This record gives sequence, C-alpha cells and structure tokens, in this order.
Amino acid sequence: MDTSAAMDISESMEWTEVEKVILSRRSTRAFKKDPIPDYMIRRILEAGRFAPSAGNSQPWRFAVVKSPEILNEMEKDAIKICKRMMFVLDYTRSRFRNIFLKPISKFFIRLQHNELHPVPFGLLNAVADGRAPVFHAAPTLILLFEDQRGVSSPATDSGICGQNMILAAHSMGAATCWIGLIKVLMYEPKWKKFFGVKYPYQLNNCIALGWPKVESDGQVPREVQVVEWYEGEMASSPRIEQQGE
Ligand SMILES: Cc1cc2nc3c(=O)[nH]c(=O)nc-3n(C[C@H](O)[C@H](O)[C@H](O)COP(=O)(O)O)c2cc1C
Repeated sequence: MDTSAAMDISESMEWTEVEKVILSRRSTRAFKKDPIPDYMIRRILEAGRFAPSAGNSQPWRFAVVKSPEILNEMEKDAIKICKRMMFVLDYTRSRFRNIFLKPISKFFIRLQHNELHPVPFGLLNAVADGRAPVFHAAPTLILLFEDQRGVSSPATDSGICGQNMILAAHSMGAATCWIGLIKVLMYEPKWKKFFGVKYPYQLNNCIALGWPKVESDGQVPREVQVVEWYEGEMASSPRIEQQGE
C-alpha cells in the first residue's frame, strides 16, 4: 500500500486498517467487463445505509444499474448532452462564437459556477470531442439520490454515505470512481422520469463500480493544509502547523 504522502506523520503507530483503505484508495477509470457479484454490491450498499446523517434523517435513495443496455444508453445520451452543451457554451471554438456567444456563455457559466467550473468544463469539452468517456465503461453504477427535505445538509449526508460505499468497495478489492458528470443526464426529462427523480429527490451523484483493469499508480498529490491549532488561552494566537508536504 502506498501511504507515502502521509508516511512522515505515522511516527511509531502502525496504520490502522481503515487508514490503509483511505490512503490507498484511488479513482479507477478502467474496469474489467465482469461486474462484481451482487452480494458484494449489497455489502457496499450496507456501508452506505449505515452512514451517519444529521438527525439520522438518512436523506438518500439508491439505484443500482447493471443492465448493459441501460448503461450504454446513459453513456450515449450523456455524450450527446455534453456535445449540445459545448455547442452552446464553448465560445472559444471559432472567432464568430468568440464575438457573439461569449457574453451568453459567460452568463451561464457564472450562473452554474460549480458545475461549469474550469475542471468540469474541460471534462465536458473532452467528452463532447470524444476524448473522454463519461462512465468509464464500468459494469455497475450506483446512483445516489438526495432527499432535499433532510435535516441540516442532505448534500453533506449524501457525500458521507457515498464515501462510505467507496471505502467499503475498496476494502474488498473493488474499484470505484465518482461520476459527477452524470448530472448532465438530468437535463433530459427522459432520465428524470426513468429514475423517478422528482421532489423531494434530486440526483446527488454516481459511483462507478467494478474490478480494476489496471493497478493504481500511487497517490495523487494533495495540497498542503495550513492548520490552526488552538491549544492555549483565549487571548493567545493559534499555533500554525503545516499538514502534508
Ligand atoms: C464529487 C466527485 C465527482 C467526481 N466526478 C468525476 C467524474 O465525473 N469523472 C471522473 O473521471 N472523475 C470524477 N471524480 C474523481 C476525481 O477526479 C478524483 O477523486 C480526484 O482527481 C482525486 O483522485 P483520486 O480519487 O484518485 O485520489 C469525482 C470526484 C468527486 C469527489
């Protein structure tokens, strides 16, 4: 297991099994064709079901997609929607677009600043140009729907629930990748209807699941965190410590 990024803080304490799972997990984008067995999928769902949530409100609903026909249709439609979105939004594609489309595109980008942040924007472009797949040909998808009536922050609860499932899957030797890009399907009433997405539910996210086709190439670097440690009196300043290197 590669825990190199955190090695210097291990001191003399052995890494726990949970820490090993957390530190060695990677997003996998190449899956074997065969799905993982249903009993394992159920165990992964169980890890999600037992996630903590504000007021134990459990504001989530799951759907497992294994049908090759449906997976294929989701991929095809997601590509189609990415193409359509980029046709409207990517003003850099021609001089004409740069002059006439830029203000409209910028307006939409500002409106949807998370979903159209440069990272997903680049990914949407890559999918539209046929340079990247959406679901990485995973044989199974777990869709996570969030109940908007939940206590406090259903989005946080759903994220915790999803990460529980991801870590459980990794601990069993299965591979996963969050697929935030699935949200483009929700622009199509067809998919909202298909998955019964209506108030109080909305699609939170998706987890691609399967056996890894390739070995992990180690950790992706993380930013150093500057952490304030409050250990003294109220009047004293916190001690600043760098977490990571
Ligand atoms: C909420 C969320 C959405 C994501 N969406 C996608 C996605 O649509 N496609 C993809 O290939 N990776 C997606 N990722 C994976 C991230 O790119 C990945 O977690 C990040 O680059 C760090 O790499 P690691 O998971 O291997 O440590 C997503 C991750 C999260 C947490």
